[in-house]
Amino acid sequence: MFEHYEVFARVGESTDIVRKEMYDFDDRGGRHLALRPEGTASVVRAFVEHRPTTPWKVWYVAPNFRAEAPQAGRYRQHYQLGAETLGSDDPDVDVEIITLQARFYEDLGLRQVRLLLNSLGDSESRPRYLDALRAHFAAHEGDLSEQSRQTLALNPMRVLDSKRREDQAIIAAAPAMADHLSDASAAHFERVQSGLRSLGVVYEIAPRLVRGLDYYTRTTFEFAADALDTAQNAVGGGGRYDGLAEQMGGPPTPGIGFGTGIERILLACDAEGVFAATEASVDAFVIDVVDGSAALELTHALRAAGVRADRAFDGRSMKAQMKQANRAGASVALIIGEQEVADGTVTVRDLESGDQTAVPRSDIIEHVRKTLS
Ligand code: HAM
Repeated sequence: MFEHYEVFARVGESTDIVRKEMYDFDDRGGRHLALRPEGTASVVRAFVEHRPTTPWKVWYVAPNFRAEAPQAGRYRQHYQLGAETLGSDDPDVDVEIITLQARFYEDLGLRQVRLLLNSLGDSESRPRYLDALRAHFAAHEGDLSEQSRQTLALNPMRVLDSKRREDQAIIAAAPAMADHLSDASAAHFERVQSGLRSLGVVYEIAPRLVRGLDYYTRTTFEFAADALDTAQNAVGGGGRYDGLAEQMGGPPTPGIGFGTGIERILLACDAEGVFAATEASVDAFVIDVVDGSAALELTHALRAAGVRADRAFDGRSMKAQMKQANRAGASVALIIGEQEVADGTVTVRDLESGDQTAVPRSDIIEHVRKTLS
């Protein structure tokens, strides 16, 4: 969960994730440490440290920490499931990684998830594109938000990621990476797309998709969950980071992977109604409005007979006990009032239909068992 601060500082010099949202501190030995904000830099650090044979395929589920303003789908601690492959820049690896993620959402039952795809180019295309972007934004600098003006000085590509209203028209008119790709990058991206098409993975080209970390090169992607109408509708994303291993002091080694947020997946599943409603843990609820002694005996007798039963305590009102029975998800309420005590009966109320029957106390267990089965 901890890494040396430098592991992340290098991968996000111009990103909010590293500059503004990272928890970092000096430990007792005076080391500058950071709580992991994401998994890829740690995986590449481990690769450089241990030098496994390639292709190296790894996966993880782990907590990450970002000091963001908490809101729905955006937490200071979130879990990510991720997969990474290091050691090959074959576009078929890109197809494999993206398809794995797409099928994972499909297998979960999510239907309203869209794959957005872009190429951020290689070391040959990037400087040309940055020049074009810099020129475009510089020409409109006066109209950009204060935040984007600062970002522009650090990395003009990150301005494309601004969500500020005043920046949107300028971003929409910005040059697209697709027009600045080197021949090699364009061919690589074409092969990724044809591979996805041949496997039936549906995608949309998103020319302004830049993602929130600095290490991305060539193929980048994000999965947007349309059932989440918050600003945080990305359930996952990833891409190539062909220069990262070398940047961390290892041999030049291309890599690609994805990360997907577990909490956001669960929110999307809830929004799409993917999971069946949780099963109630109680079938029969005993309501005693006399003195509770009938509830005491009857609840235990029901449980002994294998019926999932519960009751209220503290001599609560009929109304409060009924509410509790409904909240517990019980199918039947067994009601004991003065009248029932006098008659030696229990009133059985079907909580769905509202139908009531008086059942002799001696037959009640058998009656409830029959009703529930
Ligand atoms: P990321 O887009 O920053 O990428 O995060 C991946 C996913 O984690 C997001 O799409 C989102 O579902 C979830 N997530 C991120 N921040 C939060 C948060 N504060 N609260 C809840 N969920 C969150 C990465 O981290 C890259 N390491 C992905 C990757 C792997 N790229 C290559 N390999």
